[in-house]
Amino acid sequence: MFQRRVLCGIQPSSVPHIGNYLGAIKKWIDLQNSGDNLVVMLADLHAVTIPREPETLRKSVLETAASLIASGIDPKRSIIYRQSDLYHHTQLSWLLGTLTTVQKVGHIPTYKSKVKDESSIPLGLFLYPILQTADILLFKTTHLPIGEDQIPHLQLCTYMIEKFYHYYKKNIFPVPQMMATETNRIRSLRHPEQKMSKSDIEERSRIDIMDDEKIIQERVMKALTDFNAHVSYDREQRPGVSNLIDIYAGMTDQPIESIVAEAQKDNMNTGAFKKRLAQIIIEHFRPKRAEYLKLMNDRSYLLSILDNGRERAKEIADSTLNEVKDIMGF
Ligand code: ADP
Ligand code: NA
Repeated sequence: MFQRRVLCGIQPSSVPHIGNYLGAIKKWIDLQNSGDNLVVMLADLHAVTIPREPETLRKSVLETAASLIASGIDPKRSIIYRQSDLYHHTQLSWLLGTLTTVQKVGHIPTYKSKVKDESSIPLGLFLYPILQTADILLFKTTHLPIGEDQIPHLQLCTYMIEKFYHYYKKNIFPVPQMMATETNRIRSLRHPEQKMSKSDIEERSRIDIMDDEKIIQERVMKALTDFNAHVSYDREQRPGVSNLIDIYAGMTDQPIESIVAEAQKDNMNTGAFKKRLAQIIIEHFRPKRAEYLKLMNDRSYLLSILDNGRERAKEIADSTLNEVKDIMGF
């Protein structure tokens, strides 16, 4: 009944790191290359739930777009566009927001983990899941490549689809299916007990995928491991070296056991293993980085891709928003 469509969202905060790449972007590219219809949304409206420096936000949108395209998102096949280019998101968000309660949204754990003081919850952060529901429904999304942490948001989305049906007796939205992303979370290179994140102020904790080769080399070599020079996998007892093995597995699509067996067979210590891993990462991203730099040097071409993405996204968004407004009596 509904055409299969996958929505992929990323906050344009800067060049994505290798955790974003292995946990999300690489999977999106695989889906695209196996024939799925992808909408890749640069979620800049979501990004301002935390105040951003205007020039940084403007620049980050382009850096993120260029990183995704250079990594393999093909703007001819997939729709890649900037969320704020379509007013449809905020309008649909308002319309759908009328279908739920403050209490229902308040149960979503995500914003709670980001604020310490209940009396100063930014309204944007609180309303974030409603906007996200609007993003999903605007495209009549059937599949979402998201992690476990997004389950409460998906539940809210499903609840709002039911409410819409309850009030208006029209079944116009598919219930999106989660496409679980099974890989292990990539962790910080300096604090392997926490996940690698853009919001980590310590830059040495991550590898941004368009980093200079020297920086990649340095970050891998300086990744925190332990006093045991032997390569073995144990996420609890040896988070540092296990994280490097996880990255290796993600980069090569090789199973953990065979990576460890190979390292042991070659008598590699953690230092030699790091060297090999750095080389793999550098070689993987070398052509992509060249493409990235080309795109960043041709701003008008990059903007034309986003314009084209906006027009294609708008066609779908117009149709859904008109349908919803018509049903609601506008
Ligand atoms: P960040 O937490 O760095 O701000 P985002 O929230 O923008 O990243 O996430 C974008 C995508 O990347 C999401 O699909 C998210 O699940 C994935 N992702 C983020 N950090 C990691 C990580 N450390 N390991 C694996 N996937 C990650
Ligand atoms: Na995040």
